Amino acid sequence: MSKTHWTSYWQTGALTSLPMDFKANYDGELENYWQSVLLKSRTEPLTVLDVCTGNGAIALLLQELADKHEVKIEVTAIDASVINPTNILKSHPDKAKYVPMINFIGNCLVENMSENIEQKFDLIVSQYGIEYCDTEQAARNVAKLLKPDGELVFVAHSPDTAMHEYMQTEEAVYQYLEQVDMLVAFERFGHNHITVNGFKNKLQKGLEAMSKRMDYRSNSLFQTWGNAAMQLYEMNNSALKTQRDSVKQFYIKYQHARARAQDMLNVTDKLLNQKDWYLTFEQYGLKLENHDEIIYQQKHNVGHFYEFSQI
Ligand SMILES: C[S@@+](CC[C@H](N)C(=O)[O-])C[C@H]1O[C@@H](n2cnc3c(N)ncnc32)[C@H](O)[C@@H]1O
Repeated sequence: MSKTHWTSYWQTGALTSLPMDFKANYDGELENYWQSVLLKSRTEPLTVLDVCTGNGAIALLLQELADKHEVKIEVTAIDASVINPTNILKSHPDKAKYVPMINFIGNCLVENMSENIEQKFDLIVSQYGIEYCDTEQAARNVAKLLKPDGELVFVAHSPDTAMHEYMQTEEAVYQYLEQVDMLVAFERFGHNHITVNGFKNKLQKGLEAMSKRMDYRSNSLFQTWGNAAMQLYEMNNSALKTQRDSVKQFYIKYQHARARAQDMLNVTDKLLNQKDWYLTFEQYGLKLENHDEIIYQQKHNVGHFYEFSQI
């Protein structure tokens, strides 16, 4: 399973998967939640595995909190995408003390992580991650990697129907751009498989069709593509010729963004339609001790935490 779309996102240097809401790392009630998890633990050094870590948001948060509260921990962090600690450091020099303390393992799927990791852990954690995996396989692997008294604690997305509809509309916009040949026009021009005039022709037809889709007019994705297409269409041929590489980069960027949005849409579908998905962990020797919503700044439901212990 290729995770290029996530690798490209993490290469931008973002620390969290919600950069609009969390400028640095997760803070407020989310940080407080992870602090309470850390301070409840009795073992030292506490061995922790953060799965679906991305650029290590939760791994780093726990490492920093442990430092602050003088708790000894050893953190391993895995993700299916390629994770480059040097790149994290470049974008977050303030984390210089903590990034090297974490054992990052990229290119590692949760579904077979127990084949690649020999150590066992006191605590396996995840935020906005484990729900992206095949639940049965994830549960089997978690059970194999937990120490006898170990715990699994994760915060999953807490989707509502409005979020689901928003993501469905986004995917519908991509499908529409495909239908009017806009995506293929950008792809072919970027890869030098179509002439400047051929590209302009496609842009003209696409823009004509798009101008009739009143229902998508206020959609920001639709506007971004419409504006980009219009700017390119209005260029003279010699200026347009110099744009092949930027058109290619634009196309690739949105191809990855679409794949990430599709992942999120699938996850949202799963969480809304299989309400008891998390109980699968109980079939693998874990017991659900506690679960609840996390409300951020007293208004936003930012996730649902689940705490499991070994039976
Ligand atoms: C929404 S991001 C969350 C990242 C991070 N935990 C955070 O909160 O910022 C989901 C991450 O899960 C990873 N992922 C998805 N499926 C996976 C799998 N089967 N095994 C390992 N990682 C996976 C993706 O590569 C991505 O980095």
